[in-house]
Amino acid sequence: MATAEGSKEMPATGARPAHADNEAHAAQAVREIFDAIAPRYDLLNHLLSANIDRLWRRKAARRFRAVLARPQAAVLDICCGTGDLTLALLKRRPRGARPILAADFSHPMLVRAADKFAARAEAIPIEADALHLPFRDGSLDLVVTAFGFRNLANYEAGLKEFFRVLKPGGQLGILEFSEPGGWMGKAYAIYFRRVLPAIGRAVCGQDYPYSYLPASVGEFPPPAQLRAMMQALGYADCAWKPYTLGIAGLFTATRPENGNQDSAVHVASCAP
Ligand SMILES: C[S@@+](CC[C@H](N)C(=O)[O-])C[C@H]1O[C@@H](n2cnc3c(N)ncnc32)[C@H](O)[C@@H]1O
Repeated sequence: MATAEGSKEMPATGARPAHADNEAHAAQAVREIFDAIAPRYDLLNHLLSANIDRLWRRKAARRFRAVLARPQAAVLDICCGTGDLTLALLKRRPRGARPILAADFSHPMLVRAADKFAARAEAIPIEADALHLPFRDGSLDLVVTAFGFRNLANYEAGLKEFFRVLKPGGQLGILEFSEPGGWMGKAYAIYFRRVLPAIGRAVCGQDYPYSYLPASVGEFPPPAQLRAMMQALGYADCAWKPYTLGIAGLFTATRPENGNQDSAVHVASCAP
């Protein structure tokens, strides 16, 4: 296991659920996992995190309060799942603000999000793949995601796609699990690798999804590595703020005012 800020020997290129031997299979396997757990996702999320997940989403929304307060800001919650981050973001939007775009590639997850948004016109659910977003270059002021980025089949491709759709000066926020170091890390590893899959199995009646969760966190690049990847791709102000002793954390970055997609790709291809 790595420390919260440390590095791992073999950086992952993207999520690889069991038996997935290429990116297309990985994406399909991830979608099938979330399709399968969609009916129990909210219950298990709040149960397994003792509701701390709500606090983390609220904190992430607070971090972006300035851009959310601008009525015309174009905001995307990507990998929105059942929509809880979108709802936290909406609390920071002024009345009459432009609706938040909430996108996910799992239809059953998105249907649940749409149910939650139904009473309000401030969020638009969109079925879309994070690696092929149906938005124009430089069209968004804020791209934010909670616990979704880790599941992408290719992290670099995801960061490039977010860069493409962000306006110069636009901001990125990635809320993700992490593996804390020290005693906390040891206690957490026992909970995450043994207790959590057992509860997930009991409530969901399925084995694999809740053993995929700890495995995917274990394989996710540690904060220092992901920040370095963001920087190499041309993002500015790359930072990571740990939440709850590093169990989770928020990555933040900006598409520079003078940066463009070509320069980002060029920097990436020149990176060691
Ligand atoms: C752990 S859930 C997080 C949902 C929600 N953001 C939350 O905070 O609870 C991860 C979500 O990411 C979505 N996802 C994973 N890979 C995706 C991709 N390539 N494109 C779109 N959505 C994706 C899954 O379908 C799932 O709904």
